[in-house]
Amino acid sequence: MNRKLLNAWYVLVILAVALLLAPAPLRAQMAHTEKPAADPARPAEQAFKNIQALKGVPADQIQPTMQFISGSLGVECEFCHTRGAFEKDDKKEKETARKMIAMQMAINKSDFKGEREVTCYTCHRGQHNPVGTPVISEEEPKRPEAPVPGAAAPPALPSADEIFDKYLQAVGGAEALKKITTRVQKGTISVRGRGFPLQVLAKAPNKRATAVTQLEGVNVTAYDGQTGWTGVPGGRPPADMTRAETEAFSIDAAFYFPIEVKKMFGQTRVRPSDKIGDHEVIQVTGIREGKAPLWLFFDKQSGLLLRMVRYADTPLGRNPTQIDYADYREDSGIKLPFRWTIARPQGRFTIQIDTLQQNVPVDDIKFAKPETMGPKTIS
Ligand code: HEC
Ligand code: HEC
Repeated sequence: MNRKLLNAWYVLVILAVALLLAPAPLRAQMAHTEKPAADPARPAEQAFKNIQALKGVPADQIQPTMQFISGSLGVECEFCHTRGAFEKDDKKEKETARKMIAMQMAINKSDFKGEREVTCYTCHRGQHNPVGTPVISEEEPKRPEAPVPGAAAPPALPSADEIFDKYLQAVGGAEALKKITTRVQKGTISVRGRGFPLQVLAKAPNKRATAVTQLEGVNVTAYDGQTGWTGVPGGRPPADMTRAETEAFSIDAAFYFPIEVKKMFGQTRVRPSDKIGDHEVIQVTGIREGKAPLWLFFDKQSGLLLRMVRYADTPLGRNPTQIDYADYREDSGIKLPFRWTIARPQGRFTIQIDTLQQNVPVDDIKFAKPETMGPKTIS
């Protein structure tokens, strides 16, 4: 491979890995433009060079906000930016976007009581040029079926607690789960048709580290129970996750999630849902005080968790992440998914686990943020 190709490929991989493991496709790109944030909550205009429309927004929200914009318009960063010079106003699309940010804020303020109802996605729907005229479709549009008089009422739904209990039983029960305190999983992560070796380390109650090996070294995403960080190889110091990323990763890190899920939410709502693959599912929406909701989809028959959708708030809208769990297998009396797919508007990645070891010693040091990233940080 020539150097240029290798570089492009490398950037793609880092991007993909960052996107997968922490909801941060931009970290690798931004690492060069942004100084490590001293205080993640300080205003963006102090941390960045040319903030006008998003003044007052916490610095660590810029990255997810840019993700939201890109996802809403279905474009890459380069649509508005020159790589490596994000502060420059050299593209008219960036100027337009600034006006659009002001417009969105004004519409919501004047017509939606200040609630964030209209977002970039409301109009753009994944395109940079919104369509203003209804489209004539090839087929006759489907009309909703009228209710049949006298038809049986749909069966009553179980309560969220019943669904959570069934899930806990399905994965082996609290007693069996609690007997396990560490986990080492090895497998492959597939990114746009390419596979890379991956290792996941987990330790009760809430430590988790994921390492992906590729040509230049090991990419690590980790949470030590308090701090989340990501490191790319090359001797640079690892970067802290944003608060939203830490929050999201801490859910994955909850070692006893099937036990804890029952206490996680202030409020829950149960509703029927469409099928996932061949499985009939039931949806529980979990609402946590002051946070975006979490959607959980359970297999009606087996009780297992098949999908989680979580949202990260940004000043302009919510970034969704969907994780699908599959290939549940039994080991040491508990059931675990051996495959999961993480999907975002920008792309999807699949992890397939080949080997699993439980209750082997895993040193706390593996989760702690190192000073700098060596070529190999965890092994
Ligand atoms: C549709 C246009 C658009 C896209 C796509 C976009 N941005 Fe931006 N970006 C902007 C605008 C507009 C600003 C300035 C916001 C302001 O004035 O407050 C900005 C500002 C930034 C800044 C702050 C630069 C500084 O020092 O002032 C960074 C960093 C950034 N964007 C990164 C990204 C990354 C990374 C992506 C790709 C994921 C991205 N942007 C995608 C429009 C865009
Ligand atoms: C109320 C609807 C609406 C909202 C909300 C909206 N846009 Fe737009 N946007 C449009 C329309 C319509 C156009 C096309 C204008 C034209 O064709 O001249 C457009 C064009 C653009 C363009 C220029 C695209 C190109 O191909 O040159 C950018 C960039 C853009 N919008 C960014 C955003 C961003 C970022 C947000 C969210 C902060 C946003 N828009 C929110 C309706 C909207």
